Formats: sequence, structure tokens, C-alpha cells
Amino acid sequence: MGTMMSRPARGAAYCVASVLAMLAVRATAADAMQAPPQVHPKLWPKLRPALARDPALEARLDSLLARMTPEQKVGQLIQADIGSITPDDLRHYPLGSILNGGNSSPRDDKLAAPSEWLHLADRFYAASLDAPGSLGIPVLWGTDAVHGHNNIPGATIFPHNIGLGAARDPELIRRIAAVTALEVRVTGLDWAFSPTVAVARDARWGRTYESYSESPDLVRRYAAAVVTGLQGKPGTPQFLDAAHVLATPKHFLGDGGTGGRDQGNNPGSERQLRELDAAGYEAAIPAGAQTVMASYSSWQGRKMHGNYELLTRVLKGRMGFDGLVVGDWNGHAQLPGCTPVRCAAALDAGVDVLMAPDGWRELYVNTLAQVRSGEIAATRLDDAVRRVLRVKLRAHLDTEGAPSTRRYAGRYALLGAPQHLELARQAVRESLVLLKNRDHLLPLSPHERVLVAGDGADSIARQSGGWTIDWQGTEPNQDFPHAESIFAGIARVVRAAGGTAELSAAGDFHTRPDVAIVVFGESPYAEYAGDVPTLEYSPGDKHDLALLGRLRAADVPVVAVFLSGRPLWVNAELNAADSFVAAWLPGPQGGALADVLFRAADGRVAYDFRGKLPFSWPRSPRPPRPDGAGGGAGLPGEAPLFPFGYGLTYQDVGYVPRLPEEAAAPAGGG
Ligand code: GLC
Repeated sequence: MGTMMSRPARGAAYCVASVLAMLAVRATAADAMQAPPQVHPKLWPKLRPALARDPALEARLDSLLARMTPEQKVGQLIQADIGSITPDDLRHYPLGSILNGGNSSPRDDKLAAPSEWLHLADRFYAASLDAPGSLGIPVLWGTDAVHGHNNIPGATIFPHNIGLGAARDPELIRRIAAVTALEVRVTGLDWAFSPTVAVARDARWGRTYESYSESPDLVRRYAAAVVTGLQGKPGTPQFLDAAHVLATPKHFLGDGGTGGRDQGNNPGSERQLRELDAAGYEAAIPAGAQTVMASYSSWQGRKMHGNYELLTRVLKGRMGFDGLVVGDWNGHAQLPGCTPVRCAAALDAGVDVLMAPDGWRELYVNTLAQVRSGEIAATRLDDAVRRVLRVKLRAHLDTEGAPSTRRYAGRYALLGAPQHLELARQAVRESLVLLKNRDHLLPLSPHERVLVAGDGADSIARQSGGWTIDWQGTEPNQDFPHAESIFAGIARVVRAAGGTAELSAAGDFHTRPDVAIVVFGESPYAEYAGDVPTLEYSPGDKHDLALLGRLRAADVPVVAVFLSGRPLWVNAELNAADSFVAAWLPGPQGGALADVLFRAADGRVAYDFRGKLPFSWPRSPRPPRPDGAGGGAGLPGEAPLFPFGYGLTYQDVGYVPRLPEEAAAPAGGG
């Protein structure tokens, strides 16, 4: 539920969300009967937050809290989606923050110009200061800038996290985050709901591609890099300055360990939760993260949005996090006894800001009543408000002026700037993993006749995946002004060298090509829409395999380029191809793949493969080992086909023996 449907459906979506929430409540009502899972804070790392408490700032918070009305305090704890709140509403409901969900945009127009985003930010800012008795601390606007400023056509969009994990390049990741922050600032926003620091252990999960790796160590290294890139380095003048935005490591805690079911239950032990799932936060908090997003998932049967032990005793207590915890999209409604418009339990557990995209008005009224009745304790209310205001003051929200007056606001040439696009192309090149290269077919000569086939060959949407312009990522090519499809990149390289490049999704040709590059893979998806029951690629539809087979039957050497948000079981496709490249979701600059596949015109290898698997590659379509530790598909003890860290270069012998194409029955027929 990370997004809005189109406006007409918005009301229906709200009803559906409420029904789902009620069902979820019933499903988890039993949870409430269970004793809360035991937590031992001393097991958890005692972290030193990046920012020492600033006595002057804290004194200012004391003064603000003393002056605030209950209405103003409750307003700071509620976040509405721009699809259901107008700037004028802020004059009557003093909400502290707004967001645009994956499908929300100015005028509900996903192709709205960047200037419309900036203008709308100004209007929300002004209205938030117009509220009666305003404290002079304006509203924050959060957005899912998860692989660039990906809601904005023309902004730089990078490979998704899974591909960045393959690059093994924290400095590259930091630079990507810094560019993302800058481009978010151009449009007047100040908060990125990023990075996802899930340690995904079951690739059946629809959000695997938002995870950097199954390796907690890699996630830990990347988390610090992304938070620093987005926010700047704590203690330096750049920290949360006009070129940086608030970061949000998410989703706390354990979203990557739910057995492949989005918003599911993580059954792991406290030690596994600490050693696997908490790795990203261990780095993100000392790096200065000012916000954390709570997870929809449960741990040992208890929804994270209601887990006081982990949100308050561990994250805020033991780990020393003194920023704000924001709930996920109506995530509070999944708690026993809660609905989208009434939920003291999430606030009591330690959520400081309730993400209430549609029901914010009722939630405000109900929460105010719960404060007045004492159902929500004044101490909890003040703690939550203090955290929100602390983050706002650290982000200079009270002094930096209206969005359009800020240093980078309106500098639209920065959106998709050449140097930003080159960084994206570097990320594409570094993300590619070579799994097979029979007889050194790759690198190819650009002087040859090249056929480019497959339904991913010329589709920016398929090479970009979800969270791209809209939530599920379904946009036509024309909506990406700076993009280069994989075919376009190949055509660029080959035609410049005097070769020929022809596109035929079906793989048809008149003159036999010297080589065929078949680009195929998953259709875009986001969140639960991407959950799958098996790791087999496209179980019901083998047209890609048939295409590979036809080309081999015509004795055309075949390079397979696989677009996917996760490793999948593709033994048959691996057998049918001479070379096989895991390209993940490279984004609108996917054409840079050609720079690696082909030699330069003078025969040099300009770019070799350097990507290494961030996730184990499955030997079978069966789900990963139940223990989930360290990824790896198949039955307990069954090694992955290609292990974490695998990846060929042009120097390697890329031979892969013929692989079994029938998923062997589970050992022992179990
Ligand atoms: C979604 C996602 C979360 C996102 C939020 C706002 O449901 O779980 O990652 O930040 O909603 O779009």
C-alpha cells in the first residue's frame, strides 16, 4: 500500500485499505494475545549517535513544547499524502509533514513538470506557516527517492539497489546518493525515504531488488555510504545543508527475513535479527540518519509498528537513535485494535509520525481525543514531538526559507545533468555480472551484424523496474527524456564503428546476424505485487526460452541479457545461451551495457565486467534454506548454482556445463 491509485480510485483505495487493515487487524488480533517476543537490549550494539545533543537546540525544543497547543503537538505526528491534502488544509490542520507516495504527484499528473513540484512545495510551506499560532517551523515533504529522484521525468535514475550491490563500490553509492539529494532539492523537497537496508534472504520477495545484498556486511557498508551521501557528513558544514536531504534507513526491523512474503513474519531468533537484519542500522545511525521507517513486517508474530521492545528499548534506547521513527503507509492500521484513522498503539510503541495518506483528518481528530483523554500519555506525545522538531531544526527548516528560495531550488539543468547521467552509466557498467561466456564470445566486435531481440531490448520501463515515475514502473519510453534503452546503446556503439544493429523483439532477421543479443526478463513490479511462489523464472510462459532456442537452432551465437529484480532459476535459459549477463534493473541509462558487451572500435576492451553477485544464484526453483542465513536457494545444504560473490571477467573461462532443466524433486521427496 505504498502508493495512491489514480484520483477516481483514491476513495475506493481508501475503502479497500480499510478493509485490508481490518482483516489484518483480525489476523493479528491473535498476535496481541501472545506474550511479546523477548528482547535483550544488552545483546544489541550500543551506538554513539553521530550528533551530540546540542544544549541550545534542546533548550529551544523545551521552549517550543511549552508553547505548543495539543492540536499543534498532534499535528506534528501525522503525515498526509499530497493526493489527499491541499495546502489550504494545513491552515486548519497543523500537520508536520506530507509525502508523495509512489503514484502521487502534483495535480495527480505523474508527468508534472519539476517546476510544478517546486511551486506546490512553496504552497505547502507557506500554508504550514499560516496556521494560527504557527511556531514558525514548516512542514517536511518526504518522497521515495530510492534510485534517484525517480518520480520526476528527466531526473537522473540509477540502477536499483540489487545492481548497486553487485558493483561492490561504496564510494559510487555515496556519490549516487549525493546526486539524488541534490536533484530532490531542485524540486523543493527535503526528505528521502531511502535507503532500504533490508538484508533480503528469500528472492521470492517482491522487494528483493530494493535490498543491496543478502550479506549483512555489504548492507552495513552501503548504509553508511548512502546516509552520508544523502545527508552529508555530520559535524561538517555540508550536513543537512541546501544540497542534502534527510535520509530514512528502512524498514525497521527484519523486512528481509519474512520467507519471501512482503509484510510477512520474520521468525528469526533475536540473534539473527541483530546480526542480519540490524546490520544496516548499526552503520546508518552512527552515520547520522535522522529518520527511520518502521516495517510492515512482524517479528515472531508481532507487527513491528507495535513493537515497543525493538522500536523504543532497542532502537531509541540501546542503539541511541534520537531522530524520528516514521510509520509506513497506513502501517499502524495493521495493529490489533487499530484502524487507519485511530491508533494509539503505534505511537505508544515508538512510532513518532503516523503515515496516514488518506485518513489523516480523522486520525488527527481521534488522536487529539486520545491525548485529551490520557489514552496517549503526555510524556509519549512530548517525546514524539520533540523528536520531530529536533530533526526539523537540525535540518535548518526554521531558517532556510521557502523551498523556491533555497540554493539549488529551480536549477532544473541539474535534473539529468550530463555528469549525473555519466555517474548512472558508470553504475550500470559496474553492476553487470557475467555468469557464462562460452568460448569467450564476449566481448563482441562492434564491426559485426548484430541482432537485438527480446521484449526487454527497447523498453525503458523493463530495464528500470518499479518506483520509476510511478509506483509499479509502467511508463512508455517517451516519458524518459534522457534515457537510452539497451538496444539504443548497442546501436550507438555498433553503428559508430560501422557495424549494423537491428531490433526485432521476436528475433526475426533476413540476413543472418553474426551474433544475437536477447534482452529478456521480469516485467516491472513493486512491493507485494512482485512476490512470487517459486524461484523459477516465468513458470507459465517460456517464450523467451523459445526465442533463445530458435536463434541457437539457426546457429546464431546468443548473448542473453537478463533483466530481473532478483536471482531466479534460469537453468534452461543458461543452457540455451552462449553468454549470460545478469543485468538486474539498470534503469533508464541501461544503454551503457553496450560499453561493456562490445570492444571499442579500435579493438580495446574499454570496460570489463567487474560485478559480483550480491545474492546467491539458485540451483533450483525451490525456496531458500529455512534458516535464511546467508541466502542460497534450495534445500538445506544445497549449494547455490553461483555463490554470493561470483562473477566472471573477460580473462576467465566462462564455461558452464549443461544444467538440469527439471527441478529435481526435493531430496527425500519432502
Ligand atoms: C510503501 C513502502 C515504503 C514507502 C512508503 C511511502 O508502502 O513500504 O517503502 O516509503 O510506502 O511510499
